[in-house]
Amino acid sequence: MSTPRPMGVPARPNPDEDGDTDYLAPGPGGRHHMPIPDPAPLTRHGPATVLALCNQKGGVGKTTSTINLGAALTEYGRRVLLVDFDPQGALSVGLGIPAHQLDHTIYNVIMERSTTADDVIIKTTVDGMELLPSNIDLSAAEVQLVTEVGREHTLGRALRPVLDYYDYILIDCQPSLGLLTVNALACADGVVIPLECEYFSLRGVALLIDTIDKVKDRLNPKLEITGILATMYDPRTLHTREVMARVLEAFGDTVFETVINRTVRFPETTVAGEPITTWAPRSAGAKAYRQLAREVIAR
Ligand SMILES: Nc1ncnc2c1ncn2[C@@H]1O[C@H](COP(=O)(O)OP(=O)(O)O)[C@@H](O)[C@H]1O
Ligand SMILES: [Mg+2]
Repeated sequence: MSTPRPMGVPARPNPDEDGDTDYLAPGPGGRHHMPIPDPAPLTRHGPATVLALCNQKGGVGKTTSTINLGAALTEYGRRVLLVDFDPQGALSVGLGIPAHQLDHTIYNVIMERSTTADDVIIKTTVDGMELLPSNIDLSAAEVQLVTEVGREHTLGRALRPVLDYYDYILIDCQPSLGLLTVNALACADGVVIPLECEYFSLRGVALLIDTIDKVKDRLNPKLEITGILATMYDPRTLHTREVMARVLEAFGDTVFETVINRTVRFPETTVAGEPITTWAPRSAGAKAYRQLAREVIAR
């Protein structure tokens, strides 16, 4: 007999579950593309490409995409560090880590010279993927940093000692364009913008891109937009198809070919505390994030 599940944890899906594959196309908006090939295996690791997952709107799939892109990248042999840079700590909780109980988090790394990233980084259930956790303590940093010299480069300084160890560092940003997010942009090579397929989702993107341009101009000349990721796509509704067409019209090839469909599997993984790639390995959602990993490596 299997052990009883803790209350509230959904039943593990059948591992043979094979989701629909319509995320592969013909692409939403009518794009037809070649399959993205598997990346070449690495013979050595680092220095890391730093990607900030950023959108000042909440609930668009930043945290979900950070976890699942990270987990998918490890399947291609990449070493991954996830950085929880939201005081809500949803990334840590989504990986099954009770962040509110931790005494040492990213807050200590950025605010105390005596604490290094290595002191705080913890392993996750995914081989090759580690986490720099966060909790509500981080909300104090936003205020305390204001008076610091070089305040926008605090996160970059904290991550520098571990850059050579990882292949990808993914920063899960908070839903604002405040100082914490500017810190993430100031140390990133690229920005991944998750965008919910809803009418109002386009409104904030111009402001986000404006902020990215300013950071590139004033703080971090290497910063680029890696791609815009359409999330919560529902191929059955005309509404999301129309939104997708407008996103493609506005942003063209900046939009990843991979589209993440809306499915209950994602809220389930949050409760289960593991990525979809292990929770439902053959599901359409897991396949979509693997395809996104291949696209990110290829870009
Ligand atoms: N593709 C998806 N389909 C359905 N629900 C999703 C999907 N992606 C994320 N969710 C759910 O939507 C909510 C918000 O997602 P989250 O990743 O936390 O967004 P953000 O970090 O941008 O606030 C969560 O409950 C998450 O489980
Ligand atoms: Mg989040």
